[in-house]
Amino acid sequence: MSREKGVIVPKIKGFLCITAHSAGLKKRVQNQINLVKSKSFKNNNFKNALILGGSTGYGFATSVVFSFGMKANVISVGFEREPQGNRTASSGYYMVEGLNENAKNEGLNYTFHNLDAFSDESKKFIIDEIKSKFGKLEFLVYSLAAPRRTDPDTKEVYSSVLKPIGKTFTSKTVDIYKEEVKEISLEPATDEEIKNTIKVMGGEDWFRWIKFLKDNDVLAPNFRTVAYSYIGPKLTWDIYNDGTIGKAKEHLTNAVKDIDTLIKDINGKSYISVNKALVTQASAAIPVVPLYLSLLYKYMREEGTHEGCIEQMIRLYSENDLLGACNLDKEGRIRIDNFELDSKIQDKILSVWNTVNSENLLQITDIEGVKKDFINLFGFDVDGVDYSEPTEI
Ligand code: NAI
Repeated sequence: MSREKGVIVPKIKGFLCITAHSAGLKKRVQNQINLVKSKSFKNNNFKNALILGGSTGYGFATSVVFSFGMKANVISVGFEREPQGNRTASSGYYMVEGLNENAKNEGLNYTFHNLDAFSDESKKFIIDEIKSKFGKLEFLVYSLAAPRRTDPDTKEVYSSVLKPIGKTFTSKTVDIYKEEVKEISLEPATDEEIKNTIKVMGGEDWFRWIKFLKDNDVLAPNFRTVAYSYIGPKLTWDIYNDGTIGKAKEHLTNAVKDIDTLIKDINGKSYISVNKALVTQASAAIPVVPLYLSLLYKYMREEGTHEGCIEQMIRLYSENDLLGACNLDKEGRIRIDNFELDSKIQDKILSVWNTVNSENLLQITDIEGVKKDFINLFGFDVDGVDYSEPTEI
């Protein structure tokens, strides 16, 4: 079917861009595929995988690793907006389309489903897909970042919030487009808001997926599952680790125990991987984080340790033996945030944090790098793309 074409420009609204450039996004997909193909994943030769939250960010990069690195059969689930007339789709829509085109060309088995992963209907649909495509599932990645979730039992809708707990939080943040550093104050979350954020971003739905899959007998022996989390430095703890999202991540981490009990009889194992802070659609929405990222990017680039989603996922699945002995921290988590938390990097960030302002932002931070990463998420400012040419909508 022929698609409308047009010259597409970015339209920024708050921390979102409401347009997406298909050619730019497909170029980004190609870059990720090229990088993955040059790496080896010999320790993790999984033959089939389900990636939840696989249309953007960490989940998308994971799909590239499983498809093009391990040559696994992949089913990916995400929630994306389709194009309508001359209104572009959301960026993940074009990302998965690009991955699908490349997978087809190389004879790989990759399928994307645009579904609400929280619903039981979606779970049942995917179980039928697994049965018809693979028989049994060897690997599940849980990479959802969502603003709300409908409880499948009660149909009540829960919304997550990014708030501190127990005290008002005041800190600096940056408006990346106005290049303005300003103070932000956030009132503490109510008990209800904490509970709701845990409902959306905690481990309840991860456990529910595994239970559904197990009850339907579609988990292969030695089944593995990984969910992604974040901790970060003390500088962001009031809003992240000690805030509502941190409580949800604690709940996600605690789900490991219950999942492991559930899949013990098939020699299954679940893991939390603590990843590095990066510009994604989810993280751009967290106050303070973009300013922290602009310093983190600067010092990690200077140190030669900067990574994007794809480099992080390459490291996760090439350096850890998920069927054998993984390197875990005291709490049993895989840590690929070690370069971010390196004291050399964090000390440098702390040493300038109090002095950074709108006047010196361009000189002392990598705000340009953060801006580029942000606009790249929507397919704009991607190197090698001619933006004067009409692109498919
Ligand atoms: P992202 O916003 O790029 O991706 C979120 C994914 O979830 C997308 O594929 C989206 O379509 C999907 N999704 C949202 N609601 C859905 C629904 N109802 N049904 C199906 N799919 C749905 O976010 P990002 O940053 O890649 O986050 C993924 C995970 O990685 C999250 O758990 C996040 O906390 C974690 N993480 C993120 C870090 C960061 O700095 N971005 C750092 C460390 C961990």
